[in-house]
Amino acid sequence: MAAIHMKNIVKQYGDGFPAVNDISIDVADGEFMILVGPSGCGKSTLLRMIVGLEDITSGDMLIDGKRVNDLAPRDRNLAMVFQNYALYPHLSVYENIAFPLRLARKLSESEIDDKVHEASRLLELDEHLQRKPGNLSGGQRQRVAMGRAIVRQADAFLFDEPLSNLDAKLRGQMRTEISRLQKRLGITTVYVTHDQTEAMTLGDRVAVLKRGLLQQLATPRELYTNPGNLFVAGFIGSPPMNFLPAQVDGTSVQLPFGTVELPPEKTAKATGKGLLIAGIRPEHFEDAGVKRDLGSGSTFRATVDVVEWLGNEAFAYIPFEAPPEMRAELAELARDLDSEALHTQLVVALDGSSRIAEGDEAEIWMDISKIHLFDPATGENLTVDPQHAGRIPAMEVEAAPG
Ligand SMILES: Nc1ncnc2c1ncn2[C@@H]1O[C@H](COP(=O)(O)OP(=O)(O)OP(=O)(O)O)[C@@H](O)[C@H]1O
Ligand SMILES: [Mg+2]
Repeated sequence: MAAIHMKNIVKQYGDGFPAVNDISIDVADGEFMILVGPSGCGKSTLLRMIVGLEDITSGDMLIDGKRVNDLAPRDRNLAMVFQNYALYPHLSVYENIAFPLRLARKLSESEIDDKVHEASRLLELDEHLQRKPGNLSGGQRQRVAMGRAIVRQADAFLFDEPLSNLDAKLRGQMRTEISRLQKRLGITTVYVTHDQTEAMTLGDRVAVLKRGLLQQLATPRELYTNPGNLFVAGFIGSPPMNFLPAQVDGTSVQLPFGTVELPPEKTAKATGKGLLIAGIRPEHFEDAGVKRDLGSGSTFRATVDVVEWLGNEAFAYIPFEAPPEMRAELAELARDLDSEALHTQLVVALDGSSRIAEGDEAEIWMDISKIHLFDPATGENLTVDPQHAGRIPAMEVEAAPG
């Protein structure tokens, strides 16, 4: 097992495009690290530089304290599981798992047999050992690929979107499986995904990337409660955070549905900055008729356009007007996030017992202590609590002397 240190890693492909642009990430021994971000942000490139499948343009890659920039992949002792598993179709499951051991020519036949059985027991593949990969389900193939990584006793596991080929149900099961296995083996893991649910559920820490730049490196909880900028705020969470126009004057914040008072520490960096973007998550609203204790929040009346009732909860949609400059800002954010256009509508999650119906002018409660305020020019979260936000490189640069 080993720690992985990436120091100022840059990757420029032939055409000069910086696919990875000065990224520093430390993965602790035994840690489960997620690299997440929209398509093209450089996740696979970074992972391939760790394994040695891609040259590093500049920076240092250290594994267990040793610089490995110039080591061939086979000399780095890492195990990579690809999206397409790369199993040998003509070999049985047993032989697929045994393959790296036979290749190394270091073990006797009985030692190999022990290791294959140990892995297959762990992965619940015992009854499939004599079958061919072609006859297995996607999840079983996935486990064979992991078995091959396990028997090698690699220093770290590297995964590149290993679950993206599976259907939603199996993806959920395999997610739990990978998490359990990683904890049991305690093996350093770097896992690439563009799925924020995988990122949140699997990672000890998550590195959020955008266009080759590290946006924030933090625990799932830190990312969720303290996103460093608009991009992270919009990327993490489903349904996503609502973004509203906000005008801050002293400690009062004018929103499309009324004006609320925030604690002074929240507005300290935001006051007098003109038009800002307020962010508030769907679950921080409630039907005021259902919410028992209205104490810590604020209520407003608004016309509900659509209601989606799911039994345990309901999503209500409330359209609002936004000034044109904010519309442009949100359109750009949607492009960055690789998502559909962000509508100027509020999505609120209500308790399943709420009777609010389409067309109602409803009274909605909002937990104002959960509001974030973003600078539309830089995207910076002006209300972030730096003690509970992990690392935000953009803010480190700002704080550096000179
Ligand atoms: N061989 C290559 N030559 C030139 N540019 C490349 C090459 N491979 C990737 N790129 C570029 O580098 C950037 C990062 O690519 P990368 O494959 O790392 O993205 P990714 O985050 O893994 O995306 P996805 O989620 O689509 O897999 C992209 O803009 C891509 O076009
Ligand atoms: Mg990729």
